[in-house]
Amino acid sequence: MTYSITKAEQEIQSRREGLNLRWYPRYHLAARAGWMNDPNGLVWFDGWYHAFYQHHPYSTQWGPMHWGHARSKDLVHWEHLPVALAPEGPDDKDGCFSGSAVVDGDTLALIYTGHKFHGDPGDEANLYQVQCLATSRDGIHFVRHGTVIDTPPGLHHFRDPKVWREGEWWYMVVGAREGDTGQVRAYLSADLREWQDRGVLAVAEKEMGYMWECPDFFTLNGKRVLMFSPQGLAADGFKNRNLFQSGYLVGEWQPGQPFVREGEFVEMDYGHDFYAPQSFLTPDGRRIVIGWLDMWESPLPEQEDGWAGMLSLPRELTLSADNHLQMHPAREVETLRGAWFPWPITTLNNQQMTLVEHCDAMEVTLQWDCANSSAEQYGIRLGDGLRIYVDVQMQRLVLERHYPQYGLCGTRSVALNLNDMLNLRLFFDSSSVEVFINEGEACLSSRIYPDADGRELALFAWAGGASLIHGGAWQLE
Ligand code: FRU
Repeated sequence: MTYSITKAEQEIQSRREGLNLRWYPRYHLAARAGWMNDPNGLVWFDGWYHAFYQHHPYSTQWGPMHWGHARSKDLVHWEHLPVALAPEGPDDKDGCFSGSAVVDGDTLALIYTGHKFHGDPGDEANLYQVQCLATSRDGIHFVRHGTVIDTPPGLHHFRDPKVWREGEWWYMVVGAREGDTGQVRAYLSADLREWQDRGVLAVAEKEMGYMWECPDFFTLNGKRVLMFSPQGLAADGFKNRNLFQSGYLVGEWQPGQPFVREGEFVEMDYGHDFYAPQSFLTPDGRRIVIGWLDMWESPLPEQEDGWAGMLSLPRELTLSADNHLQMHPAREVETLRGAWFPWPITTLNNQQMTLVEHCDAMEVTLQWDCANSSAEQYGIRLGDGLRIYVDVQMQRLVLERHYPQYGLCGTRSVALNLNDMLNLRLFFDSSSVEVFINEGEACLSSRIYPDADGRELALFAWAGGASLIHGGAWQLE
């Protein structure tokens, strides 16, 4: 099959009519139809935020990757634009894989991975991944310039370029696999076309994975953060529970110098579904990150509805004094707030209380006084499938989803200090929940699949009492 943007657009238009929208996000970005994975090319250009994404318009399964495209004035209301890149070859004949975008004068430049097999695609030895360039003046139609960095000798997995400007130069980091070890490679350019190889910036130590995908490298609070998505980490207690992880290392770096890391790899989000995040800068200097709100090989029940995959909320990144990356909903998210429903409750005693009959698109805020709560479990529940609660015996905040009909059951959790207040902001959408804990200390993000008649929100406290200092919900519009 040969691919083109025109064909992709026709396909999307015809598929769009048949969608079942029961789980389609109300305020997150998802593809118009077909499959979506990682966010790509997040950038501010000519008065708009642009979000591109890995996209397969021809089915609800992953397939030859295109770049889907949307733009927004405020990071929460998105307007779909035509597909930006199709795997038209020869450099990207088997897929336009992940990458990034930069503004070069009056031009929007996309730098992405051309994915191609030289021969039988069943044999990894035939795989080549190269970094390609495409440019646009209007931010919608792109001219393809082909390969700007070839696969380094001996490598096959070499993808997901992230480009940024620093001083007089363009820099690029690329994720790679050498043997069974993940790494990040660095490049330097004056013009985005000719690139100098600057060697390996970081490499997986000990059990840190066979492949590092989607690297990103930026300064926060005077430190350098290497954010990436390693594959091949073993589950370890409450850590690394998903098939693949996304997280970061903090350290020091100067152009031309090695990256000197301080501390261990830390996961960014402890929910079931957060992967391949990418960051970008707003015009006012905030570093925002958006991730894919899904996990490879996890069931996606919306596939039967004609679409698959969605992106997370935009989240502002900050770095705490002790080098922890914190994620807060970008302030633009507050513009979605409509009616406010306060929950004037002070204590719950071994009981459950329904507060919202039908929760579709809502932000809930809760403040629990943990030091003055004796209940063994207390928290919030959506229908019969989702509970987010403090487990006092485990001293953890637990997200439990239970959708046995879709094979999506299990818990994720983060440690809590039960001597403190617990502040939660929870964002519910048709098929997702994102929990922000204590102003960005930790996040739990998961896909959820409630039935239309099983979307009531209730607070509960079992085996004792729980003290709620503040609670309520915004309808999001
Ligand atoms: C991450 C990823 C990238 C790759 C893309 C392919 O989820 O595997 O490494 O470029 O998805 O769709």
